Amino acid sequence: MTVGRALAEATRRLAAAGVEQARLDARVLLAHALGVAPLSLVTWPERVPTADEQARFEAMLARREAREPVARILGRREFWSLDFEVGPATLDPRPDSETVVDAVLASLPRRDAELALLDFGTGTGCLLLALLSELPRARGLGVDRSAQALAVARRNAIALSMAQRAHFAACDWGMGLAGLFDAIVANPPYIPEDDIAGLAPEVADFDPRGALAGGADGLDCYRSLAPHVARLLAPRGVAVLEVGEGQARPVLRIAAAAGLRPAGIRRDLAGIERCVVLNNGT
Ligand SMILES: C[S@@+](CC[C@H](N)C(=O)[O-])C[C@H]1O[C@@H](n2cnc3c(N)ncnc32)[C@H](O)[C@@H]1O
Repeated sequence: MTVGRALAEATRRLAAAGVEQARLDARVLLAHALGVAPLSLVTWPERVPTADEQARFEAMLARREAREPVARILGRREFWSLDFEVGPATLDPRPDSETVVDAVLASLPRRDAELALLDFGTGTGCLLLALLSELPRARGLGVDRSAQALAVARRNAIALSMAQRAHFAACDWGMGLAGLFDAIVANPPYIPEDDIAGLAPEVADFDPRGALAGGADGLDCYRSLAPHVARLLAPRGVAVLEVGEGQARPVLRIAAAAGLRPAGIRRDLAGIERCVVLNNGT
């Protein structure tokens, strides 16, 4: 079978499985199986893949048909134009979360200052490492309760040459942490428990439940986190918390009750309120 035929057949199978961007995904997976750039599939459609290449492609295609996201099949996800390893224990980073990085950068008077950063629920480390990539003299701590996620985050820090400035620790939010941080970020689990089953299979079946579930109303983690943010945020520091749709105002109220001062709400590229910005109330 030629590349052109394989691509057409794979697109048909993925579409039948309910995959939205069937052709794009088929192209990315086939290119990966062949070890070539996706564009070359278009320019050389008559190429005939070897038996090994066909077997590799078939294995990946079957996973995508079962609605496993492409990023998990490849084990890689681009975030903030950086290449991250993702794994079964980590959330697959979302482009919307780049709003958090933007919000922190917009709030800093200078990017060359010696800053201390803290990332609650670091997962792949994507928020912390994206920030460190923009703040050359900053150092950061990423915490997570998943040891497996922390192992991925550490590998990402090494691969992105930031291991000297990025440290990771197993913590239940800020329990046992001391010190003051100039910027605190968090993208906590915020999906209401009952909504999880109704999410796309790519999310419900493949993102770790511990990275999604935010209790009955989705706000449990903000309630737990807010006092830690208030205690660990430096006097002129900024905290940026990602929120789910419709959660910005409830989260601002939770933060205010913990002594944090609201400093704004930022929208993502779709216009949805995506994160709240907080200052230390003192
Ligand atoms: C929504 S994911 C965010 C991952 C990453 N920051 C991102 O934006 O892609 C939430 C993360 O919080 C972690 N987490 C959940 N509860 C936690 C807790 N009590 N203490 C520390 N981390 C926790 C999960 O393991 C998961 O990695």
